[in-house]
Amino acid sequence: MSYIVSGTDTDVGKTVFAAGLAAAMGADYWKPAQAGLDGATDSGEVARLAPGVHIHPEAYRLATPCSPHEAARIDGVEIELARLALPTTNRPLVVEGAGGVLVPYRLDLLAADIFAHWGLPVVLVARTALGTINHSLLSIEALRARDVPVAGVAFIGEAEPAAERAIIEIGRVPHLGRLPHLDPLTAETLAEAFATGIRTDLLA
Ligand SMILES: Nc1ncnc2c1ncn2[C@@H]1O[C@H](COP(=O)(O)OP(=O)(O)OP(=O)(O)O)[C@@H](O)[C@H]1O
Ligand SMILES: [Mg+2]
Repeated sequence: MSYIVSGTDTDVGKTVFAAGLAAAMGADYWKPAQAGLDGATDSGEVARLAPGVHIHPEAYRLATPCSPHEAARIDGVEIELARLALPTTNRPLVVEGAGGVLVPYRLDLLAADIFAHWGLPVVLVARTALGTINHSLLSIEALRARDVPVAGVAFIGEAEPAAERAIIEIGRVPHLGRLPHLDPLTAETLAEAFATGIRTDLLA
């Protein structure tokens, strides 16, 4: 099964989770639009954290680290749905969205609209830190408003059972497990944390 990995926010841990998921599932990885090319890109980080995973080239490589719609405007590019077609592969595919579910790729095209177009379920990556209940439930509502299936929520950070339970019960979504903060963060520590912490059986 293929999945979109989205999150409650930018910098929440989508790339780390997507790398672990692709490695665990024997899936390919694809970042449709990379905004920000200085330093490590998401695809580059996945290559480091999931060395065996096939990485499809980004459809858009935009220079500025900001919302894709603005990064595209700065580069003089218009993001088109036709160019965001899912890459073909015999393996499952893990697609990492930019930012969160209502991030604009154009002023009239939001991330969740593109997810609905692809027709794949979303794994929502959420922090366990304060504020996560609101951000997670808002994200789940926005996905459901567009009939995008929510495969579940995967948490990043220290265990916060009350917050995790509130999201699962109010949002009526599966708990896909939790990745603790990993130090060092390597392909080996990620694979081990994934094997013990993430319910890949629910994502088969
Ligand atoms: N489980 C973890 N253990 C240690 N560091 C982590 C973990 N998850 C994420 N990080 C670190 O937090 C930062 C943000 O993570 P990541 O790049 O995965 O976020 P993101 O949601 O993909 O961000 P973006 O919206 O830019 O794509 C990175 O420096 C990453 O190495
Ligand atoms: Mg990322």
